[in-house]
Amino acid sequence: MESPFKPDILRGKVALLTGGGSGIGFELSTQFGKHGASVAIMGRRRNVINDAVSVLQSLGIPAVGFEGDVRKPEDARRVVEATVDKFGKLDILVNAAAGNFLVAAEDLSPNGFKTVMDIDSVGTFTMCHEALKYLKRGGPGKDPSTGGFILNISATLHYTASWYQIHVSAAKSAVDSLTRSLALEWGTDYDIRVNGIAPGPIGDTTGLSKLRPKEINSGVAQSVPLYKVGEKWDIAMAAIYLASVAGKYINGTTLIVDGGLWLSQPRH
Ligand code: HXC
Repeated sequence: MESPFKPDILRGKVALLTGGGSGIGFELSTQFGKHGASVAIMGRRRNVINDAVSVLQSLGIPAVGFEGDVRKPEDARRVVEATVDKFGKLDILVNAAAGNFLVAAEDLSPNGFKTVMDIDSVGTFTMCHEALKYLKRGGPGKDPSTGGFILNISATLHYTASWYQIHVSAAKSAVDSLTRSLALEWGTDYDIRVNGIAPGPIGDTTGLSKLRPKEINSGVAQSVPLYKVGEKWDIAMAAIYLASVAGKYINGTTLIVDGGLWLSQPRH
């Protein structure tokens, strides 16, 4: 679907996206690029990163990819610095990297729990921490009049309780808390806005095929108040809204983009 936003709404911005080579992260990379941003993507799989960068470049988007694991602080620092070396500054950080699998709590090892916490929650904090000096108002390479923007990709499963997702629910709860705390501290001190997006079931993603295989064919669309599975495009448009000047007074919120699913009840 065509974007309703002007193609230059993110002109001149430099964005770094963890998990930006696949799934929702890649759609964000593509749409940010199509709306004027230069894009750096970070991920663990070299071939995924390379393929993603090729696609972005074929669309005329200034793009670069870096292999790295958000669980490793040295990778986080290296990739943030390499992004600034390449594009001269950093305006937008998107934390879209995530790990997930379905498992009953009694079968989940403490290390399995910790692995997802490390990727989703600690990884998000690590990336934010490494990016801070560049995202600050007047940070290296930046326009002195503006601050940066951080977007944390979350979920809705922790709003209630979700079967076989104790690790991800805990991790995304922490992510939402980071969003609020950083919005407070860094919004006040450095003019950095920090927001999240909580996607619902989004078609053609690892999350949906891995976590809700049955619902793809049999029913999730019927349980969403808007009666359809979302598209990656829906998340990207919400992200552009939040990242652009249109969202300049939005700070510390996590925008739910789920068609109303999480609050819905079966019809009696
Ligand atoms: C139980 C598991 C497991 C599984 C791993 N573990 N997979 N336990 N069931 N299916 C446990 C291991 O036994 C181990 O604990 C620990 O986790 C670490 O496992 P490793 O394989 O060493 O970890 P690693 O190679 O780093 O892999 C990370 C991963 C992996 C998260 C486990 O699944 C991954 O990277 N997946 C790809 C990313 C992904 O799924 N993205 C989509 C996100 S969708 P022990 O105790 O044995 O040492 C999303 C949507 C959320 O986030 C919202 C949806 C509604």
